[in-house]
Amino acid sequence: MSFWWFWTAPPVVEDALDEDLPKLAEIHESGFSHQWDADELARLKSQDGILMLTARRAGAYGTRNPLGFLVIRTVADEAEVLTIAVHPRHRGRGVGKKLMQEAIFRLYGDRCACLFLEVDAANEAALLLYRSLGFRQVGERKGYYREADGEGTALVMRIDLR
Ligand SMILES: CC(C)(COP(=O)(O)OP(=O)(O)OC[C@H]1O[C@@H](n2cnc3c(N)ncnc32)[C@H](O)[C@@H]1OP(=O)(O)O)[C@@H](O)C(=O)NCCC(=O)NCCS
Repeated sequence: MSFWWFWTAPPVVEDALDEDLPKLAEIHESGFSHQWDADELARLKSQDGILMLTARRAGAYGTRNPLGFLVIRTVADEAEVLTIAVHPRHRGRGVGKKLMQEAIFRLYGDRCACLFLEVDAANEAALLLYRSLGFRQVGERKGYYREADGEGTALVMRIDLR
């Protein structure tokens, strides 16, 4: 089997494993100025209501490297995206969308009423991702992201699941 297959094969999305956490912390660091290390991710993963998914692609020699991940917290029947990040080398190839689609599929199966999130209004890539999935803006918080390059406006977005 050629190496090309490994590069082009669609990613598989599954629950994150403890052994993934150092790699997920690296991916998080590549996407955000505030960093979550592996210990923080481990604490988060152990909490009630947390869904942590990893997108992987089969690699040569049997590896299944994480390409990206997301974390969602559900309280009662509402869920919130706490973070989503894809490794810079693998962005723009449908990994983020696949992660979100799997999360939405699971939340729908759990009879969750809605999924919401906050996103920097200047984060074009994230806005394109969320809009392509049917999220709509339901609120705005000006000056929310202090370290942001733009005005730091946070948009609150939501998708109804039932
Ligand atoms: C936001 C992020 C998770 C998107 O992940 P991704 O794997 O690159 O996104 P996808 O390839 O699945 O793209 C999903 C959709 O958005 C569009 N899109 C994503 N990034 C884009 C870009 N830079 N330019 C143009 N379109 C883009 C895609 O075309 C696709 O639309 P389509 O399905 O209608 O064709 C990724 O850019 C990232 O990790 N950014 C840093 C961390 C971050 O900002 N997280 C979000 C915080 S709210």
